[in-house]
Amino acid sequence: MDTILRVENLDKFYKNKGSLTKAVNHISFEVERGEYIGIMGASGSGKTTLLNCISTIDNVTAGHIYVGNSDITTLNKQELSKFRREALGFIFQDFNLLDTLTARDNIALALAIKGEAPKNVRRKVEAVAQTLGIMEVMNKYPYEMSGGQRQRVACARAIVTEPELVLADEPTGALDSKSAGMLLESFQMMNEKMGATILMVTHDAFTASHCKRILFIKDGKIFNELVRGNNSRKYFFDEIMQVVSFLGGGQSHAI
Ligand SMILES: Nc1ncnc2c1ncn2[C@@H]1O[C@H](COP(=O)(O)OP(=O)(O)OP(=O)(O)O)[C@@H](O)[C@H]1O
Ligand SMILES: [Mg+2]
Repeated sequence: MDTILRVENLDKFYKNKGSLTKAVNHISFEVERGEYIGIMGASGSGKTTLLNCISTIDNVTAGHIYVGNSDITTLNKQELSKFRREALGFIFQDFNLLDTLTARDNIALALAIKGEAPKNVRRKVEAVAQTLGIMEVMNKYPYEMSGGQRQRVACARAIVTEPELVLADEPTGALDSKSAGMLLESFQMMNEKMGATILMVTHDAFTASHCKRILFIKDGKIFNELVRGNNSRKYFFDEIMQVVSFLGGGQSHAI
């Protein structure tokens, strides 16, 4: 087994005017290289906080997070920016593309920051654009693209550097079902063809049913875990729905 991420007794508490919120409350889990993991849980359960600790956007209150062999909770400023630049791909819900750059330049920027040679940049950008089906928007600026296209460009930017770990916070949250479907295909491609390990927060059971394993978070703790195994996506969806209903989601397929 090749463990890429190990979260160990992770706490993230917020103090606010005398009250203490235990947003992440002693969470431990491991992720193997090549896994595709969904993180689900009610609003306020701590999903984004967990992802932000792993991405080093937030500092932790206690505990350890190992990526490969290094404990990222102990990195200094310089090591942190190297880690973010080289090991991580982020996909935020609001895309975070630069408005003054075309899709091609948004994607290329990630490689340029890494110091990649120009001829490799061109080759890698074109290859990832082909994989994610965004060739026709490469010369467009973000405001000239649809939400789904922007989201796929953001995916391309996140994976063009071939990060070990891709973190996505509700990537399909703002998309219609067709765009969401295309994004999920992109994720599957990233996972199966490009070998990316993916951690994706989602409220949506259909989206989650594309993952290989789901962690359910409740009140900052891991409440349950489901593994798809060899079951069909439909079967996995039904299993996820059962846990979602139990967690108190109830309505349709969202919690
Ligand atoms: N900066 C902050 N200061 C104080 N409390 C915070 C802060 N950020 C998050 N929290 C609290 O931590 C808890 C977990 O928040 P988090 O954003 O991780 O939830 P979430 O599971 O991502 O929810 P959602 O599904 O609504 O995005 C919530 O109770 C929230 O109010
Ligand atoms: Mg959130």
